[in-house]
Amino acid sequence: LSVSQFERGDIDRIFAVADTMVPYARREKVTRVLEGAILGNMFFEPSTRTRVSFGCAFNLLGGTVRETVGVSASSLAKGESLYDTARVLSGYSDVICMRHPQSGSVAEFAAASRVPVVNGGDGANEHPTQALLDLYTIRKELEGKGRALDNFRIAMIGDLKHGRTVHSLCKLLCLFEKVQLVLVSPGELAMPEVVVEKLREAGHQVTITDQLEPSIKHVDIVYSTRIQEERFESQAEADRYRGRFRLNRDIFTLHAEPNTVIMHPLPRDSRAEANELDSDLNEHPGLAIFRQTDNGLLVRMALFAMLLGVEDKVAQYARPITW
Ligand code: CP
Repeated sequence: LSVSQFERGDIDRIFAVADTMVPYARREKVTRVLEGAILGNMFFEPSTRTRVSFGCAFNLLGGTVRETVGVSASSLAKGESLYDTARVLSGYSDVICMRHPQSGSVAEFAAASRVPVVNGGDGANEHPTQALLDLYTIRKELEGKGRALDNFRIAMIGDLKHGRTVHSLCKLLCLFEKVQLVLVSPGELAMPEVVVEKLREAGHQVTITDQLEPSIKHVDIVYSTRIQEERFESQAEADRYRGRFRLNRDIFTLHAEPNTVIMHPLPRDSRAEANELDSDLNEHPGLAIFRQTDNGLLVRMALFAMLLGVEDKVAQYARPITW
């Protein structure tokens, strides 16, 4: 439900299990370890990669996915409570993934559920599995340079007030040591103070600024985010900030170190008035955005295997691919 439920050892264990999922995610082998299990994939807000990768991850472990997409497709639209919905749907599923526009809604649902519930994003609050896949990606990118996960520098850019991915990632980083963070946003869209306090309590160095170019110098990771227009009172208010920070090849080449890694939780807003991460960086070797999405499959497979207690049996139920 929240990254606050994890300790450092949990992260190491999830990542170790995620590493073992590579042959299945690459379709080099199949496993039927979750045959007969049902995932209830309930998305009450738009999603491409979280919803589909949860579903694919469960399928790749041999399980079956049942989806509910959009409030209008469920009896929530008729005034049914989250409590009743959880009581009913947890009778049909072995695990439930849920995204909902209200902060705290997934925890409320989980309290009534009879099966484990995974938070696929609750309003502006948290997106724990995104933070796990982001951190898994950071680990892999740093390892590729002979570095460890502690003691790195990251600039987070954009709508840090409403961005649930950066909220979860910052909280997760509190489990690690000596991270230097540069938090880049318009003052009105700054990272919530409670998150900044947690980072400082963890001993991390935090710089807060509204200047893009100097912030991407001397960092290992640039983590760009979209203006979360769906969280604003009006489109006009969101439009005041869209396009404020644009990272493109020229700016990156001029201001960042050449081996800096570029991340974004996606979706990036590709419309001309926003375009926070330009497509002219698409072929840049440092662009890790699609490595992030691939890693999401591994991390979500690991979570399902661990939640259902089969992480040590995945290989036992494996067989070579036949197609
Ligand atoms: N990163 C992410 O949550 O993407 P989707 O909204 O497409 O699931």
